[in-house]
Amino acid sequence: MDNIDALLDEMEQYARENETPILTEAARPVFLRTLRETLPRRILELGTAIGYSAILALRTLPEAEIVTIERDAAFAETARSFLRRTGYEARAKVLVGAAEALLPTLSGAFDFVFIDAAKSRYPDFWLGVQPLLTSRAVVVADNVLFRGLVEGEGSEAWPKHSYRTMVLQLREYLRLVRSAPGFRTKIFPEGDGMAVSWRNE
Ligand SMILES: C[S@@+](CC[C@H](N)C(=O)[O-])C[C@H]1O[C@@H](n2cnc3c(N)ncnc32)[C@H](O)[C@@H]1O
Repeated sequence: MDNIDALLDEMEQYARENETPILTEAARPVFLRTLRETLPRRILELGTAIGYSAILALRTLPEAEIVTIERDAAFAETARSFLRRTGYEARAKVLVGAAEALLPTLSGAFDFVFIDAAKSRYPDFWLGVQPLLTSRAVVVADNVLFRGLVEGEGSEAWPKHSYRTMVLQLREYLRLVRSAPGFRTKIFPEGDGMAVSWRNE
């Protein structure tokens, strides 16, 4: 086990103890496989939390850089302190703020986007990242099947009030990605459902 493995274990324990949502064990293989197949140089992440998926990505791709956006300043600070312990901090920029507000201020092209922030904003995030994508970009969105309530068996009932906006917005996200010209999308059921949208394949 290298030091990064030990740090990732520590982060998993931290996440469990503090009930911080990080990429689940079930969803990790889809995330890592898509990264390895795509070999992106510039990654954009919406929803840093404590930096777990960002560190996984930087470890998997030693040439890659990541810009990751987190609305919660305390989470962003925790992510920065974990990143400092990896030696990857020169390849990572943690921005604090709402992704929907920061996206229009970003420049440069990204060849991999990981959407993992407020689920009720996924359609806005999809539209907001479009000007930032390279011609062969991949957009990965986590939790798109949210507890089986978004589509498929068990999703027929009108979602209960507390989940309604989220579920309807996730359905809109899936409609958008499936109908987007120049993209092919596959929904992986692992974890809470992960949508992978490849551009121009
Ligand atoms: C599921 S967690 C991210 C987990 C992280 N990607 C990982 O796998 O290690 C979602 C994060 O998105 C943040 N968030 C929620 N809405 C946001 C928004 N509109 N803009 C930026 N961050 C947001 C939350 O504070 C939370 O830390």
